[in-house]
Amino acid sequence: MRDIDTSVVGVRRVRMERIDAQAAPSWTPGTHIDLELPNGLVRHYSLCGDLDETEFLEIAVLLEDESRGGSSYMHNALRVGDELRITGMRNHFNFDADIERAVLIAGGIGITPLLSMIAALSERGVPWSLHYAGRSRDRMAYLQELTERYGERVVTYISSEGPRLDLADMAASAGGGTVFYACGPDRMLVDVEAIVGPVASDRLRVERFRPREEAGATVNAAFTVELAESGVEVEVPSDRSILDVVREAGVDVPSSCEEGTCGTCETTVLEGDPDHRDSVLSELEREMGDCMMICVSRSCGRKIVLDL
Ligand code: FES
Repeated sequence: MRDIDTSVVGVRRVRMERIDAQAAPSWTPGTHIDLELPNGLVRHYSLCGDLDETEFLEIAVLLEDESRGGSSYMHNALRVGDELRITGMRNHFNFDADIERAVLIAGGIGITPLLSMIAALSERGVPWSLHYAGRSRDRMAYLQELTERYGERVVTYISSEGPRLDLADMAASAGGGTVFYACGPDRMLVDVEAIVGPVASDRLRVERFRPREEAGATVNAAFTVELAESGVEVEVPSDRSILDVVREAGVDVPSSCEEGTCGTCETTVLEGDPDHRDSVLSELEREMGDCMMICVSRSCGRKIVLDL
């Protein structure tokens, strides 16, 4: 790995090249990677470099105030030349450049998955605007490049300077057919879903870095899971996850975050009604009910049948 641009406070941009000097894997706008750190932790970062760049993959890591070990390692322990292992690449953002127009909403480090979308939209000639909110200019990753390259299409909302992002006004003025892409802190995304969601319906796409904060206490009930391919039935008690119980039954399911944010444990639902508790699926995907994240999600009914 090597460092790029160390001028943004609290954000470390890192470029990774393959040790065999082969081309980096191809990816699509909105992709995030599972990165295994030398200290054994696995963390998820959005790719934010150039899609056509095959020599390296780039990520930007925010130093969290309350780091659980990942961001502090990436900022303080990781050295140029260290080896990192990418254990997965996923894209749950459902980005589509074949649209009428787009509005992108970023809060802080939530800018990272939107950068490649902006590049793809620009290349296609799709009209777009970016609404980028942050605490102060010196903490907003990629701000300088974005404003230099795209000028007035980048609208900033900087807490230390003045006006805040007015989501209602932005949604009302966006025009029909606009697709909204948003990424940032949960409190911002809750507002986006509440204010932009009703206007945009299925044209709102959101990505979370942290588990969605559910309102109110959630009561868990026990239920039965039938594993169709394995031909076994298991009982999931109220205090355990499907993932735990399925593994205990000898069925191997890959997982990573185990908090419903990365999408690694996505499992096909053959019958039953999932009780979605993840932060990955869109409202439409939740309604379809044909897949679920079994590390956190449960069953609404007494039984659910999975393709495991
Ligand atoms: S392991 Fe990350 S969503 Fe389930």
